[in-house]
Amino acid sequence: MIRIAVFASGSGSNAEKIVEYFRNHIDVKVEIILCNNPKAFVIERAASLDIPCQIFNRDEFYSLSSVEKLLIERKIDWIILAGFLWLIPQTMIKKFSGKIINIHPALLPAYGGKGMYGRHVHEAVIAAGEKKSGISIHLVDEEYDRGKILFQAECEVKEDDTPESLAERIHQLEHQYFARVIADLIIKENR
Ligand code: GRF
Repeated sequence: MIRIAVFASGSGSNAEKIVEYFRNHIDVKVEIILCNNPKAFVIERAASLDIPCQIFNRDEFYSLSSVEKLLIERKIDWIILAGFLWLIPQTMIKKFSGKIINIHPALLPAYGGKGMYGRHVHEAVIAAGEKKSGISIHLVDEEYDRGKILFQAECEVKEDDTPESLAERIHQLEHQYFARVIADLIIKENR
């Protein structure tokens, strides 16, 4: 069985889609959801999805490495970042080299990097007068949003778009593609 841990910091709509996609998968299982924000809605989603959810703080994530120890105890093979806002510790990147996947709500390399998350991304895309935006699914390396791009999908940016209306269109792309891209990569790597 290939085991996945999903990290999220916010609403968790992508985490939910990923759990649902692999619910009855023969080879892949979402083992746990990990969250760095005790107020995040993803915690409620995990409860209703009946998936274990571990909340952690900066100490546990960076200095104590207790999150990394938990991943090892749970025999996690892949880490999925689904709206997770902290930089991954170097030790974890090395330990899970090539096995950490992130989704970014823009067409990288543009509109990526530190501080480019959530509505900040969509505000910047609209302010720049872009005609299209989209999603980027990529491997995670030492720097924000710089790893190998695995998949991109585009959507239009409308004249009258607000960050909210553009975010909604992009969420639809995320929910349509993220779990499938993860599955394709995991199965391919596992052959
Ligand atoms: C998504 O837009 C994703 O691209 C970005 O964070 C957002 C997470 O949304 N990394 P949700 O918490 O999965 O609803």
